[in-house]
Amino acid sequence: MNKLLTLALLAAAAFTAQAQSYPGNKPIALVVPFAAGGPTDRVARDLAVAMNKQIPGSNFVVENTVGAGGTLGAIRVAKAAPDGHTLLVWHVGMATTPIMYRKLSYKPLEDFEYLGMINDVPMTLIGKPQLPANTYRDFENYIRANAGKLNLAHAGLGSASHLCGLMWQSAIKLSESMTTIPFNGTGPAMNALLGGQVDVMCDQTTSTTGQIEGGRVKGFAVTTARPMSSHKLLKDYPTLAEMGLKNFNLTIWHGMYAPKGTPAAITKQLNEALQRALKDPEFVKKQEALGALLVTDKRVTPEGHKAFVAAEIDRIRPVFEAAKAYAD
Ligand code: MLT
Repeated sequence: MNKLLTLALLAAAAFTAQAQSYPGNKPIALVVPFAAGGPTDRVARDLAVAMNKQIPGSNFVVENTVGAGGTLGAIRVAKAAPDGHTLLVWHVGMATTPIMYRKLSYKPLEDFEYLGMINDVPMTLIGKPQLPANTYRDFENYIRANAGKLNLAHAGLGSASHLCGLMWQSAIKLSESMTTIPFNGTGPAMNALLGGQVDVMCDQTTSTTGQIEGGRVKGFAVTTARPMSSHKLLKDYPTLAEMGLKNFNLTIWHGMYAPKGTPAAITKQLNEALQRALKDPEFVKKQEALGALLVTDKRVTPEGHKAFVAAEIDRIRPVFEAAKAYAD
């Protein structure tokens, strides 16, 4: 047997051995870079259940590593052992934070293995129940008249709620901005809204749907380009575009990542399991009830996922650079 063939056979045997021994008895941490109770935590917990069904003997466990707009959780995963036991579930922050945080200790396109995208989630503009407005039009008028006295909650610089809050305030051309109040995630921000300590938030439907339905917060509008006509609750809310904010369209995507250098046998297994998990009827149903859609297009592949994130960084960079929206 020639030397090259021997090497190829040895590599194939090592690949199979690695794939067969993973994950062993050790849990797989799904690191969520925001607090429990928010949309990233929601999708990661649903995903953990779906992934456990796909990889026999696996134990996916959600761990919240919070702070600095999600970057502390991302740093934890970028620097973790590349053994498939520490993974990241994160959203558009993967694309916003490298622009806003100019001194990040990791590079989004170089320091992770891309495992595939998970879902797309619309956002909703919501307010505390005490606000004296019930329609979007009245809400916007009230905000215009009182912006300087009102607080907008978000999950840190570069978070989805921060991005949405900035985009919305700029689209309605407020003469005076609301005071922004950062939290470690929209889970705790929602608690502050429920308690009336903050006034307004733009958060993902996976976190707001239940609160709106229960009458605990007021919902005013959705951020999708078209009305959410097939959702039993959100179909009744106007889009911001319909309310005159031309081309307003914001949907938050989430993906799964491993530290750079994780063996291909493991990343392949994780991606294949993710692709099957995204078709799990229970996972699909849970997410759809919350207004989210699981990804079914080419972004489910590692290549498609990485190309999409690279394009998102290019799309978002000029917007943030023009606004000088830097976090350092
Ligand atoms: C969260 O999980 O708390 C949110 O995704 C935060 C955010 O608005 O980005």
